[in-house]
Amino acid sequence: MTQFNLSRALPGDLSHIKTEQREGVLTITLNRPEKRNAMSVELTFEMVRLLEAVAVDESVRVVVLRGEGPGFCAGMDIKDFFDSSERDEATLRAAKEAANHWRVRLLRNLPQPTIAMVHGFCFGGAFGIVEACDIALAADDTKFTLSEINFGHFPAGPVAKAISRTMSVRAASYYSLSGRTFDGPEAERNSFISRSYPAAELEAETYKLAAELATKDPVALQFTKESLQYVETMSWDAALNYNAAKFAELKVRQQGATSRAASVASFLEGKSRPGLGS
Ligand code: ACO
Repeated sequence: MTQFNLSRALPGDLSHIKTEQREGVLTITLNRPEKRNAMSVELTFEMVRLLEAVAVDESVRVVVLRGEGPGFCAGMDIKDFFDSSERDEATLRAAKEAANHWRVRLLRNLPQPTIAMVHGFCFGGAFGIVEACDIALAADDTKFTLSEINFGHFPAGPVAKAISRTMSVRAASYYSLSGRTFDGPEAERNSFISRSYPAAELEAETYKLAAELATKDPVALQFTKESLQYVETMSWDAALNYNAAKFAELKVRQQGATSRAASVASFLEGKSRPGLGS
């Protein structure tokens, strides 16, 4: 097991996040179990520094994001972000911007594929973490709640966009207006997450998928993410043009690497069946 070495890129210790890297899979763990992994000001700043370092680390092929303790994340730290009495205004303003920045830009735009592993609970601002990951796996018994309305608040920051981008309008409205809880299978049905598993299987399924992704071509993975993200708001013609340009770039970026040519040759020689998943 290799510990992720952030010492050069990341001055100062991480105290609210843990990292561990094994065979190209970096696990980032929200590590405030005593506060149910609520996103504090410190966690927010740490996450910005961490993700900036991860984005340029080619040894990281896949990122798994999870929570320590009984649940994934209890959303924004209510004390830090909704009660400014202990924070000076400038710090709070910077932290609010950082809280958006790490979820909406840094996490979403990592070149590596990202998997959210959601167990126990996922509340409020945590929806913005899960949506920013490429793939989200959850335990069947996870409690998902858009609880902002239960505080007399609304799904601010990235959350309204996160749910309207993933869930049907009916589901997003129903759960954000009522503040009711839903579970893993319902989150899969309303497409907030990719797959739900019995709790006992979630970890094994997550790392099985992560290991599988770690074997795939990293540039092709990055371009798959980028294409899905950018073509969403493009016209068909713009999307075709974008992908033609990216295809040319793919060939340049993969020069010297044999994986794509070898995979094509293997198929043409009848040695592989990529359509069946290999
Ligand atoms: N912000 C700050 N502190 C929190 C948060 C939070 N979002 N969630 C939990 N904590 C703290 C509690 O205040 C408590 O701290 P303390 O031990 O110093 O008193 C500690 O975590 C444990 O919480 P409990 O409520 O005692 O634990 P329990 O396991 O019974 O319940 C639960 C956990 C369900 C997460 C409950 O604390 C809760 O409902 N929290 C609010 C979750 C929420 O609605 N988040 C969305 C906020 S809005 C937004 O994100 C935009």
